[in-house]
Amino acid sequence: MNYLIGIDVGTSATKTVLFDEAGNAVCSSSREYPLYQPENGWAEQRPEDWRDAVLETLKSVVEKSKVPAADIAGIGLSGQMHGLVMLDESGEVIRPSIIWCDQRTGKETEEMLDIMPRERWIEITANPPLTGWTAAKILWVRNHEPDNFKRCRHILLPKDYIRYVLTGIFATEVSDASGMQLLDVPGRGWSKEVLDALAIDKSMLGRVYESCEVTGALLPQIASQTGLHTGVKVVGGAGDNAAAAVGTGVVRDGTAFTTIGTSGVVFAHSSKLSIDPKGRVHTCCCAVPGAWHIMGVTQGAGLSLKWFKDQFCQDYVAEANSQGKDVYDLINRYVDTVTAGSDKLFYLPYLMGERTPHLDPDCRGVFFGLSAIHTKKHLLRAVMEGVAYSLCDCNDILREMGVEVNRMMACGGGGRSAVWRQMLSDLYGCSVKTVKQEEGPALGAAILAGVGCGIYPGVEEACDMLIGVESSTEPDKDNAETYAEYHKLYRNLYRSLKLDFKELAKL
Ligand code: XUL
Repeated sequence: MNYLIGIDVGTSATKTVLFDEAGNAVCSSSREYPLYQPENGWAEQRPEDWRDAVLETLKSVVEKSKVPAADIAGIGLSGQMHGLVMLDESGEVIRPSIIWCDQRTGKETEEMLDIMPRERWIEITANPPLTGWTAAKILWVRNHEPDNFKRCRHILLPKDYIRYVLTGIFATEVSDASGMQLLDVPGRGWSKEVLDALAIDKSMLGRVYESCEVTGALLPQIASQTGLHTGVKVVGGAGDNAAAAVGTGVVRDGTAFTTIGTSGVVFAHSSKLSIDPKGRVHTCCCAVPGAWHIMGVTQGAGLSLKWFKDQFCQDYVAEANSQGKDVYDLINRYVDTVTAGSDKLFYLPYLMGERTPHLDPDCRGVFFGLSAIHTKKHLLRAVMEGVAYSLCDCNDILREMGVEVNRMMACGGGGRSAVWRQMLSDLYGCSVKTVKQEEGPALGAAILAGVGCGIYPGVEEACDMLIGVESSTEPDKDNAETYAEYHKLYRNLYRSLKLDFKELAKL
């Protein structure tokens, strides 16, 4: 029996899972690390924390599973997209990574528009200049930390920094590279025109592979440190959303998923290049060779619930601990006792600005409609509903673009919540399904590794063999009617506050 490892370098933790070739998770290990917010709207992490987490969890799954090292054929990498990792001549990290939800680059996106018209950015990179994407972060470092920029020899994405640690090779693959805003997305290679326009030296970027191609083998010192053998192939892998698509079987037209992790994403597969001219959703290469995906992103999805839990729910944490339960299970139970609409309470999930449908780095979170009748349970439900309204906006844009979806999956930590899935189903007006395997991006990355190692004939075939539907949540008619009304007011709130958010940013 062959075994494969999927590594997902997430925002809250790295999760490493060892699968057998039938797609069963044999052993998994995860390790958390901090998110640093030096200023309002900034977000950084230490690449060294990702590295330590990967090496520790790799060693742990190999040891705990007792699978013979020689049977582990390949590793697939997945990770949070867009983060900027800069390395010097000797491969040392120069500064903390500025990650996907950081919003400091408003001025740099304007600079990008001065350099090249918006339409041309969209033609080449399939997206307008975006604050969270890597190109704007590179310009920010060049503008604000010229010494760091001068020392920089290599620019990598989070999971590609891990590839460098594991193999010593500088490389990336099309799905994650799409989120750097330096890639010719229709042509699936670096864009000379963009690199020249931004004066970024191509030698700083790794070679671009398709997601299921082998990029290198494990370094001997890493093999001995983790208990793996040097023959293990490290395959391209994918950005976390493209990897989650493979892990949920979203690899053909008509399929889509909603994930609620730190961010929330509605993602649809597309065999043809399809771009939102208004730039509200992103188009990227997907992990299936020759195909793309379209996705809308809610910046603060699981992040909103985690923030509320960390700041205001210590009593629930203690209660869950005393019962030996997960605090989110307890929160779900409480949220389920409040009716749809949270008794006229709204939450706008803009803790880290927003992307879809409002490209706005300056907006911030809001509770609207607070009354003396509201309890903490209402606030928690409102947080989950606010995220669901935002995800519904993403889904509505896909519909407006004519993207047909016959099967909507749910995944990510929040996708495991029956209450959240019900909200999505009520708002989308369709079934929301889950797959048997819960590992999403890690499974997707492992499947890509299996394709690269020749264990599976192709990505779609592997998904047909391995991925099966587990549950289906259907819309509730009464809730759907309530939410349709509430969603209208939710949409108005951003419009009413838009200019005030700009004033807030100036304070
Ligand atoms: C997608 C995005 C996030 C990150 C973090 O554009 O920024 O989903 O990949 O998970």
